[in-house]
Amino acid sequence: MSDEGYSRRQFLGYTSAGLLSTFSGLSFAQQGSVVRSATADFNPDVEINLTAKSARVPIYEGPKTLVWKFRAELLKGPSETLKEVPDSYLGPVFNLKQGQRIRIHFNNRIPQRCIVHWHGLHVPQVMDGHPMYAINSGDSYVYEFTVVNRAGMYWYHSHTHELTAKQVYSGLAGLIIVSDDNEAQLNLPSGAKDLPIVIQDRSFTEDNKLRYTSHMREHMMGFLGEEILVNGRPDFELPVSQGVYRLRLINGSNSRIYKLAWDDRTPLTVIGTDGGLLEKPVTRNYISLAPAERVEIWADFRDREIGSIHSLVSLPFQNMRMHMGSSLPEGSEFSVMKVKVAKAEKIADSRELPVTLSKINQLGLADVVNPEQPMSIALRMRRMNWWLNGEEFEMMEATPSERVALDSHHLIQFDNGYQTRGGMRLPHPMHLHGQQFQIIKREINPNYQRSYGALNEGFVDSGWKDTVLVMPGERVTMVKPFEDFKGLFLYHCHNLEHEDMGMMRNFNVV
Ligand code: C2O
Ligand code: CU
Ligand code: CU
Repeated sequence: MSDEGYSRRQFLGYTSAGLLSTFSGLSFAQQGSVVRSATADFNPDVEINLTAKSARVPIYEGPKTLVWKFRAELLKGPSETLKEVPDSYLGPVFNLKQGQRIRIHFNNRIPQRCIVHWHGLHVPQVMDGHPMYAINSGDSYVYEFTVVNRAGMYWYHSHTHELTAKQVYSGLAGLIIVSDDNEAQLNLPSGAKDLPIVIQDRSFTEDNKLRYTSHMREHMMGFLGEEILVNGRPDFELPVSQGVYRLRLINGSNSRIYKLAWDDRTPLTVIGTDGGLLEKPVTRNYISLAPAERVEIWADFRDREIGSIHSLVSLPFQNMRMHMGSSLPEGSEFSVMKVKVAKAEKIADSRELPVTLSKINQLGLADVVNPEQPMSIALRMRRMNWWLNGEEFEMMEATPSERVALDSHHLIQFDNGYQTRGGMRLPHPMHLHGQQFQIIKREINPNYQRSYGALNEGFVDSGWKDTVLVMPGERVTMVKPFEDFKGLFLYHCHNLEHEDMGMMRNFNVV
């Protein structure tokens, strides 16, 4: 295990604190120790003070809603680095540049253990927010890393074992937007025309309190909220001009899958996904977006009439989990947000969609160490719990088959009952920490063709990905690089209830 200023005492504290934290309201705030401190020889370009704490935000008329929220303050770096999301529980957007050295002082001021993960960023083990590093309330943890990722939209969220779903649901998430030189040359819509759209579902009580579940069934299936929020706001309406926009969509929900389309069925032009820009734009009649996935669209409102309103909707699809706990079951049809064309452009927008967006080195069987023997990972329910290859989550463990050599590429298959019969199958959005991967193929068991056919034309698999939806009866094959950093890197279901139940394991890069 790496030392890098990390205190072993904290790690040993994990088990007992995990038990204590189930008593809600109990505070561990005592001395406020710095569990990992700044290193003297790391000279940051950007330095941020990031605090998780409770806050009250106005969401509906009436009482404000008590949430947990990331607050940030810029200690060093370009002034545009942090951008607040107005009236939202979401943390500020971090605008970072490829190559920047980042130092973040994370302060846990919620009454539970917590740790922050930079979803999609490729950073060393001790900087990755692995739950083994969760710190007590009152303590701090200093992250230091260089941004090596391509331009794209990533995100940060809490990653505390058994508490991730609750903490993210309560508000502990925010966006990271990375830019790079290639992207700058493309003249894509920018500034007020480059907009993040965070889609989440939540439930509220009559008096505007967030309502989360304690029911076993909802944990097994995944929590579905009844209200759709965009950037933390209900009934979201976006005023636009008659120009071209870059809309960066992320599904920040715990477990809900969206089938996104324009209400008039105008096709969507996709320019990017989890790992940034595609090689070339692709079009889709709808986009299937599972938890943690991102998709960037080129949204052209030049021919739209002033005053017209366009809804981004989620189209109906088959409910795969017979969900009883929600009045908005999986596969329901609803509006996600409205776009109102409010005004003309002063000078007509003459922007053109680039033919080529970026260079992607396409990986294939020739690049992997195991072309004949894919590492197969079965997604399965056993004894009322979700398992990966028959194994539960173990904080510090990886099996021999989860051990991979540094700087190798592996062929990995997630198998969601592709060949087996019987047993419950749910869709699982599988996420891998560390480097982004490429999807090589999808195969579906014919018995599951119906639920599959309702969503599969909305997948965008051609770019770099960090999360992939594996449908019931499906097997997805990918090439995953393990470069640069040794250590334990998680892979897990990003249905956050499943993750907390232990549908999570480590790769050990040696
Ligand atoms: Cu967004 Cu390990 O998670
Ligand atoms: Cu992640
Ligand atoms: Cu799952």
